[in-house]
Amino acid sequence: MIQGHIQRLRRDYSGEPLDESGVERDPLLQFEKWMEDAFRAEVPDPHAMALATVSSDGSPSVRIVLLRGFDHSGFVFFTNYHSRKAKDLTNRPVAGMSFLWHELDRQVRIEGVVEKVSSTESDAYFATRPRDSKIAAWASNQSNEIRDRAELDRLFSEFDKRFSGSDVPRPENWGGFRIKPKSYEFWQGRPSRLHDRVLYTLGKDGNWDIRRLAP
Ligand SMILES: Cc1cc2nc3c(=O)[nH]c(=O)nc-3n(C[C@H](O)[C@H](O)[C@H](O)COP(=O)(O)O)c2cc1C
Repeated sequence: MIQGHIQRLRRDYSGEPLDESGVERDPLLQFEKWMEDAFRAEVPDPHAMALATVSSDGSPSVRIVLLRGFDHSGFVFFTNYHSRKAKDLTNRPVAGMSFLWHELDRQVRIEGVVEKVSSTESDAYFATRPRDSKIAAWASNQSNEIRDRAELDRLFSEFDKRFSGSDVPRPENWGGFRIKPKSYEFWQGRPSRLHDRVLYTLGKDGNWDIRRLAP
């Protein structure tokens, strides 16, 4: 039954035009504008993005993470350095990311090279997390098999006790990655499936080339 519903789902997209002549020359500024629009439109979790990585044997994988900062040095998210994604990024330091802002019929895709953020930067961000999230970072050996839920809860209580009455330090295996974009694509849904797509690619001279793509 759900298969039939999916096949019949149809809607037209109706965003404002996006024209290659009217966009910011700097894609970071264009991204900032669209992120502001997403906040204004109260898109839930506008900073949630799909993050694609590639394993050393070439297998792709994708998962959602939360963007925690962006500027001309790149796009930063935080994770466990022993996780599957972190292993991928260490072996092959490239990534793709995609934001979906449904309420605005918009998508942004970014691809680039990846580096770890400095431990100072990871410390600074970790310090802003609620205590329970800090404890959870210690308790979860992310992406590794765990016996059952009780085991996870036991680990959480153990670290909760260990750090009781003191500040929770950042585990060494927890920190940020920074994606340094080589390309950005801004997608604006438009009527009749004639969507607007604007692609920015970084040239060797450091300038951004801007082109329109067919939808
Ligand atoms: C809305 C949402 C936000 C998430 N944010 C993060 C995040 O910022 N960092 C993170 O490591 N995992 C985050 N996750 C969990 C990841 O999607 C994923 O399950 C986890 O990182 C393990 O992925 P991996 O095994 O590919 O390394 C989030 C999941 C959702 C649904």
